[in-house]
Amino acid sequence: MQTIFSGIQPSGTITLGNYIGALKQFVELQHEYNCYFCIVDQHAITVPQDPIQLRKNIRSLAALYIAVGIDPEQATLFIQSEVPAHAQAGWMLQCVTYIGELERMTQFKDKSSGKEAVSAGLLTYPPLMAADILLYSADLVPVGEDQKQHLELTRDIAERFNKKYNDIFTIPEVRIPKTGARIMSLQDPLKKMSKSDPNQKAFISILDEPKQIEKKIKSAVTDSEGVVKFDKENKPGVSNLLSIYSILSNKSIADLEQEYEGKGYGEFKGDLAQVVVQALEPIQKKYYELMESAELDEILDRGAEKAHAVAGRMAKKMENAMGLGRKKRR
Ligand code: TYM
Repeated sequence: MQTIFSGIQPSGTITLGNYIGALKQFVELQHEYNCYFCIVDQHAITVPQDPIQLRKNIRSLAALYIAVGIDPEQATLFIQSEVPAHAQAGWMLQCVTYIGELERMTQFKDKSSGKEAVSAGLLTYPPLMAADILLYSADLVPVGEDQKQHLELTRDIAERFNKKYNDIFTIPEVRIPKTGARIMSLQDPLKKMSKSDPNQKAFISILDEPKQIEKKIKSAVTDSEGVVKFDKENKPGVSNLLSIYSILSNKSIADLEQEYEGKGYGEFKGDLAQVVVQALEPIQKKYYELMESAELDEILDRGAEKAHAVAGRMAKKMENAMGLGRKKRR
């Protein structure tokens, strides 16, 4: 069985973009692969976080993973900082990564642009992400489109390490969904839907209430043509809404275009809001139940233990390959 690794940052709201681009894929793949799903809290602290809120967000994300349908009996669900091998391997991989490569990352450029103080961690974020993936010898990494560049760098780092030291890493493949790899902002369909958008109307949170969802979809930016048709170039707003509708309803875009032929955006948006509400309702119900239970801690304890066994072994292999520490005496 092949291995999958993927992670999500516990940095506040989890959006419909995270759900469609990442979580939904995870649920679909979990039965065919040996899966590791991680709450990457060490990545979250590359930008300022409130410690009390971060702890809440970590727990909340764990509950969401399960609420969307991750089966903790099947997949290993754990918190990055609870498995020390990630930080160890992250450091070793930083030492085989070039500053130039890190400065070229679009996520770094986006997140650092216009900021007065930028942490070193924001720059060295990708080798930590490479460590996450390589520690588990992952064959496949399901992510949204925005993570593609990080995956390419992970492959480069792994190949470099294998060549320079010892051939210990599996070179991972990226898996990006055909539709929904990049869910766009509802207010500016040329921008990615992002939880850090200052305009709350730009994104839907998985935990938004039905009324909020309706309001946000009704005020989504479209165009003045009044025709429900997929055309990313000329109708980015409508195309984004069509992608969301198609994924959550399992109807093809062509079928939806036909269904809404001769109908206006009002009806289309009203129906889409219902589709989103219905998709999120069972997830929210399960989420609130889980947040009340002790089950979550047991799952995370077990996950950390399982992850530690695998990752600790690989970190040791890396140290041996690089010549760190001493040889074990028999
Ligand atoms: P993060 O936390 O920003 O996002 C989590 C996942 O959601 C996807 N995503 C989207 N997909 C479609 N449309 C959108 N608008 C959208 N916004 C976010 C992301 O592509 C991602 O798959 N660096 C990663 C976390 C990470 C990781 C890893 C991922 C750390 N280590 C190892 C994979 C493997 C990140 O910041 O994701």
